Amino acid sequence: MKEITKICCIGAGYVGGPTMSVIAKQCPNIEVTVVDINQNRIDQWNDENLDNLPIYEPGLKEIVAETRGKNLFFSTEVDKAIDEAQLIFISVNTPTKTYGKGKGQAADLKYIELCARNIARVSKDDKIVVEKSTLPVRTASAIKSILQNTGNGVNFEILSNPEFLAEGTAIDDLLNADRVLIGGDETPSGQEAKDALSAIYLQWLPKDRVLQTNVWSSELSKLVANAFLAQRVSSINSISALCEKTDANISEVSRAIGFDSRIGSKFLNSSVGFGGSCFQKDILNLVYIARSFGLPEVADYWEQVIIMNDYQKKRFAENIITTLYNTVSGKKIVFYGWAFKKDTNDTRESAAIYVADALLDEQAEIVVYDPKVPAERIYADLDYLNTRSPEENRRLLKVVKDPSEAVEDAHAVAVLTEWDEFKTYDWKAIYDKMLKPAFVFDGRRLLDNEKMKTLGFDYYKIGQS
Ligand SMILES: NC(=O)c1ccc[n+]([C@@H]2O[C@H](COP(=O)([O-])OP(=O)(O)OC[C@H]3O[C@@H](n4cnc5c(N)ncnc54)[C@H](O)[C@@H]3O)[C@@H](O)[C@H]2O)c1
Repeated sequence: MKEITKICCIGAGYVGGPTMSVIAKQCPNIEVTVVDINQNRIDQWNDENLDNLPIYEPGLKEIVAETRGKNLFFSTEVDKAIDEAQLIFISVNTPTKTYGKGKGQAADLKYIELCARNIARVSKDDKIVVEKSTLPVRTASAIKSILQNTGNGVNFEILSNPEFLAEGTAIDDLLNADRVLIGGDETPSGQEAKDALSAIYLQWLPKDRVLQTNVWSSELSKLVANAFLAQRVSSINSISALCEKTDANISEVSRAIGFDSRIGSKFLNSSVGFGGSCFQKDILNLVYIARSFGLPEVADYWEQVIIMNDYQKKRFAENIITTLYNTVSGKKIVFYGWAFKKDTNDTRESAAIYVADALLDEQAEIVVYDPKVPAERIYADLDYLNTRSPEENRRLLKVVKDPSEAVEDAHAVAVLTEWDEFKTYDWKAIYDKMLKPAFVFDGRRLLDNEKMKTLGFDYYKIGQS
């Protein structure tokens, strides 16, 4: 087996950037080049000031500082990087289709296809092509067909190596992965390719964490893993609604069921709903695949996970409106947090976007503070919904850099992201600045019930009556 010494990764996003940084750190013998068509993103990856990297992840900038310019490079010279690499990761975005057949459910594979055509056009020697993006089952065969039919007669081995990192803990997840999944053809050359990619991960992970499967199992496992994780969130959130109607407390219920070793305690936190670029997209994709294979019961079963998540976001917004005497028109509501979870600047599908949209429909005046998300991103998220004009969004929603300035004369604070810093705030000072009664709606179950009530707040915690 030829040793891999040069890798290229197409796509310098939330997966490509951190994943390749960790490979470069753990494999000093391998030269890693991450390429992207987005010049601005590459410039940010190359910025001298590591605080300007396009992605915020704890521990990332330290690794980039250690490896960049040594064996880690960021570039827009896509063709050159493909040409020189023995192994190419495809890590581009695979959003839900917004047009045509499968609109709103199927994965849009146009970026994947463009990559495959690019690789076919440029390659002059044999390559291993690795799907790192999350893809529907059987995409590897489509990539193979494009490569074989449009290539220069060289041999391509296609592997599926889905990424399981979670944003906010990406570096730790990569360094201590529960497992790495590598799917490929069950032929001698397929096996050789799987072993070549395994050898990279085995430079820092134990052998029993690197699983080899056939290519379709690997593709499907990624969709299923995300579906199962999201399903746990929706399951506990469905019970949170019931807790609010009774005197049960969702934390006590989570704890009680989590002690059952068959259930386990992780991923049982009730919240305003899951967000992020993957859960919804991947479940919709699973639903689409099941339906297109004539399995409507399977499709309906998984679709319910998304319906429950949408319900949870809607419920949270409606509770704010009814509690504020059935009108939020002209009322100042402060959002603490906009990112879809703590320790990331990613806002894709964040619950905050949808809660804000519902409150803006009722003419609320929203003030947002998030420690890592810039104002342009917040406005872009709202504008993307197309619910109202960009001018209207900017008139009704303001973004501030100071969390205590935000609450001056506010009617309510809504906690939308579980940033640790929110727990350490001087909530007495916040209470003093707000209009009375001062309402707090905790969509992340972050704050202490008794303390907030003692301070005088009307405090609402998701999952508690
Ligand atoms: N974000 C996550 O937590 C996560 C986790 C696991 C898997 N995934 C999957 O990984 C894939 C990438 O996700 P992401 O969050 O990194 O996306 P992203 O949008 O952050 O990054 C994708 C990058 O690919 C670039 N790109 C698109 N087409 C290109 C082309 N033809 N040539 C060069 N560059 C191109 C884009 O400019 C963009 O910078 C998706 O399939 C996603 O489902 C994401």
